[in-house]
Amino acid sequence: MTSSPAPAKRSKAPPIPHQTILAKVFHWVNIISLLLMITSGLQIYNANPVFGGRGGWQFPTPFLLGGWLAGGRHWHFAAMWFFALNLLWYGLYILISRRWQRRFASASDLKALQTGRNPKRKAYAWHRLLYTAVIPILLLAVLTGLGMYKPAQFHWIVDLFGSWQALRVVHFISVPTVLLFSLVHSLMALRVGGLRLINSIFW
Ligand code: HEM
Repeated sequence: MTSSPAPAKRSKAPPIPHQTILAKVFHWVNIISLLLMITSGLQIYNANPVFGGRGGWQFPTPFLLGGWLAGGRHWHFAAMWFFALNLLWYGLYILISRRWQRRFASASDLKALQTGRNPKRKAYAWHRLLYTAVIPILLLAVLTGLGMYKPAQFHWIVDLFGSWQALRVVHFISVPTVLLFSLVHSLMALRVGGLRLINSIFW
């Protein structure tokens, strides 16, 4: 009796994650416009630091865009259209395609985090919580920015925050918050799907 050769071991690589072209476009425009918003925003900041006034600590030149206050403002107000309209169309797309049902946190995610035992389910819940938390943060950046951009037309936004200084502080806080979100979001994606998942979001 001849024994048949053992079947060759086929390596079972997990399937390459698939992202829609719209998600890729959104991520590219978001990253580029945010970089422009942050570096031009810091240029505006340096002209009269939110913390400490004109004598306050300033950000070093490599982090700045625009050369001087007016240049920074031009960049900031040009990039804001890309940033805000990108958020708007992607938000509408998520809403119309009903993707929000899978992307955003629900009561079951909170329950999974509190009492769940399945680590995969918990990781999924953290992802959805993070997606949900970043929306009000980005919207707050737009709202406070609008209040400072057109204070006469949007005086109610200035009133809502109580003072110009409070408006500036809340607007500025969007910088560390967005950076922290990007870091945690990327690390979590790396942990769940490795570099393949990160690549699939961009290419
Ligand atoms: C549609 C969205 C936005 C609008 C309309 C907007 C508008 C503005 C305006 C009007 C100013 C003050 C300009 C001045 O005092 O001359 C400003 C400052 C600034 N913005 Fe934005 N912005 C927006 C989004 C963002 C985002 C997303 C970031 C970063 C994540 C950002 C970062 C900054 C920083 C760091 C400053 C300097 C803070 C200060 O000195 O008051 N902005 N923005």
